[in-house]
Amino acid sequence: MADPLHTVAATLREAFAQATGLPAADIDPVVRPSDRADAQANGALALAKQIGKNPREVAEAVVATGLLADVCSAVEVAGPGFINLTFTPEFLAEQLASAATDPRLGVRRAVPEVAVVDYSAPNVAKEMHVGHLRTTLIGDALVRMLEFVGHTVIRENHIGDWGTPFGMLIEHMVDLGGVDAELTIDLSDPSAFYRQARAKFDASDEFKDRARARVTLLQSRTDGPTMAIWHKLVDKSADYFDVVYGRLGVLLRRDDIVGESYYQPLMPQMLDRLDRAGLLAESDGAKVVWVPGFTNREGEPLPLIVQARTGGFNYATSDITCVLDRVERLHATLLVYCIGTPQSQHLQMVFKAAEMLGVLVPPVRAVHVNNGNVLGDDRKILKSRSGEPTMLLDLVDGAIARGSAVVGERNPELSASDRDDLGHVIGIGALKYAELSSDRIKDYVFDWDRMLSFDGNTAPYLQYAHARICSIFRRAEVDRASVRTVVPVLHEPQERALALQLLQFDAAVHDTLDKFSPHRLCTYLFEVAQAFTAFYEACPVLKEGYEATREGRLALCDLTARVLQQGLALLGIEAPERM
Ligand code: ARG
Repeated sequence: MADPLHTVAATLREAFAQATGLPAADIDPVVRPSDRADAQANGALALAKQIGKNPREVAEAVVATGLLADVCSAVEVAGPGFINLTFTPEFLAEQLASAATDPRLGVRRAVPEVAVVDYSAPNVAKEMHVGHLRTTLIGDALVRMLEFVGHTVIRENHIGDWGTPFGMLIEHMVDLGGVDAELTIDLSDPSAFYRQARAKFDASDEFKDRARARVTLLQSRTDGPTMAIWHKLVDKSADYFDVVYGRLGVLLRRDDIVGESYYQPLMPQMLDRLDRAGLLAESDGAKVVWVPGFTNREGEPLPLIVQARTGGFNYATSDITCVLDRVERLHATLLVYCIGTPQSQHLQMVFKAAEMLGVLVPPVRAVHVNNGNVLGDDRKILKSRSGEPTMLLDLVDGAIARGSAVVGERNPELSASDRDDLGHVIGIGALKYAELSSDRIKDYVFDWDRMLSFDGNTAPYLQYAHARICSIFRRAEVDRASVRTVVPVLHEPQERALALQLLQFDAAVHDTLDKFSPHRLCTYLFEVAQAFTAFYEACPVLKEGYEATREGRLALCDLTARVLQQGLALLGIEAPERM
C-alpha cells in the first residue's frame, strides 16, 4: 500500500477504537490531504457525537494513544477536533519506494466485477459529429481505468442500426440496383446517401409507401434481399466508424458493436416478463409501465411507453431489453452508459423499470455518465462553416494537422515523417485532454490554441514534463530502472511536496472512478507536473554532487515520469520520450 493516507487511516482506526471504545470496523477516521500539514483526520467530529463526548477530547485521546508516533513527526489537535498529521520523511520515503517497485505504481485493485461500458453509439448512414466526441472519449477513458483497477470490461457500441429510416435507405439502394449497387461512404460527407434517400422520401408519395412497406419487411427479418442490403449499409458504416476510431486511437472495434437491431428479437419476451410481473398497463391504447417518481410538466404521472398504439416498439423497449441482456447474458454488475444529458430522464425511467422487474437490483447497478455540449466561440454547439454540427473526423484531422504544425515549429530539424508521427500524438492528445479535463457535466468551449498550448492544464504540458524527465536520464546516462529500488532522502520541502503528490495516484484513480469523472484524474496529473516543476527548479538533479541525494532525486524523477505516462495512458493519451 503506497498511499500514506491509507496506511495512516488504518493506524488511526485503531487509535480511534482505543480512544472511543467503538469497534474499529465501524470507524471512519476521514483522512484527507491538507494545506496545514500533510493530512488531516476529521473523524473525531462524528465519532464524538456517537459516544456523547467533546470532539477535541476524543482527538486528544487519539493522539495520546501514541500509535501515530511511528509514522508522524508531528500530530496536532486543531479547531473543533481536527487532527493534523505530518509524516516522517522516512515513512514517506518508504511508501515512495514501495510505489516505485510496484508495476501499478501503488494503485490498488478493486474488487473485480464485470462492467459493461456503452459508449460512442453513432448511427448507421449518418456522420459522426461533435456530439459523439464526448461520449466516445469519456467512455474510452473509463474503460481503460476500469481495466487498470482489475475489472473485466465489456465495451459495447450501441449503434443506431434499426428503425424507420432504414425503410427509405434500403429502398434507395433497391432503386440503385439492390445489394450489388455501389455504396461508398465519402469520408468528407458520410451522410450523403442518407440525404439522397430522405430527399426522395420527402418528394414522392410512391417512395414513401415503398419505404414503409420495406420497414415492415425488415422487421420480419425474413426477406433475404432486404436483410442483405441492410447488412451492407451497416457494414459500410462500420468501416467508416473504424476509420474514425483508428485515427482517434480509441479502443472500440467492430466486435464491440451491439446495435439496436440486436435487441429487436428479444423485445417480445421482455414485454411478456413485464406483463407477468404485473407491470404492463394501458394508456391511450399504448402499453406502458407506470414508473413511480416521474411526472410531466403538469405534474401528472409520466408513463414509460414500451409499445405504441400501432404495435411498434421504441427506445424504452429496446433499452430495458438491453439492461436485461447485459445483466443476464453478460453477467455484468456495473452498467455504465456514456450518453448526453438530454437522455437522463429516459434512462432513469428505464433503470427504474428494470429495477421493478427485479433485474437491476444490488449488487447490479447502472450509472448514467452524462455529458454536456461542446460549444464554439459563439457559445452554441460547435458548427462547421455550413452551419451543421462539426464532423468528428474534421476535428480529428484538424487536431493532427495542428499537432504537426506545432511540432514542426518547435523542432525544425525533424524529418517530415518524424514530425507527423509526433504531431499525431500531440494533436490527438490535445484534443482528448481538452475534452477529458473539462467537467463532463458542463458545457465547454472548444479552443484549438488553448488545447495545444504548452502551458496550463493541457496534454502538451504534461507530455512535455514527461519528455523532459526522459531527457534528464539520457543526459545523466542513467538507466531508469536502476533507480527504482532507491529509497530517496526527502530533505527539501519541494521533494516532500512532490513525494506526497506522487503517492496520491491511487486516490486519484479511485476517486475518478467513484465519480466516473475523468477530469479528476487530469487535475491530479496537472498537479503532479506542477509539483515536479517546482521541485526541478529548487533541487538540482544532475548538478547535485552528493551521490545519495542525486540518486534520490533521480528516483523522484523516474516515478514522476511513470505516474504521468500511466496517468495519460489511462486517458488514452500517449507520452512520447522526446518532444
Ligand atoms: N445513436 C444515438 C445518437 O447518435 C445515441 C444513442 C445513445 N444510446 C445508447 N444506449 N448508447 O444520438
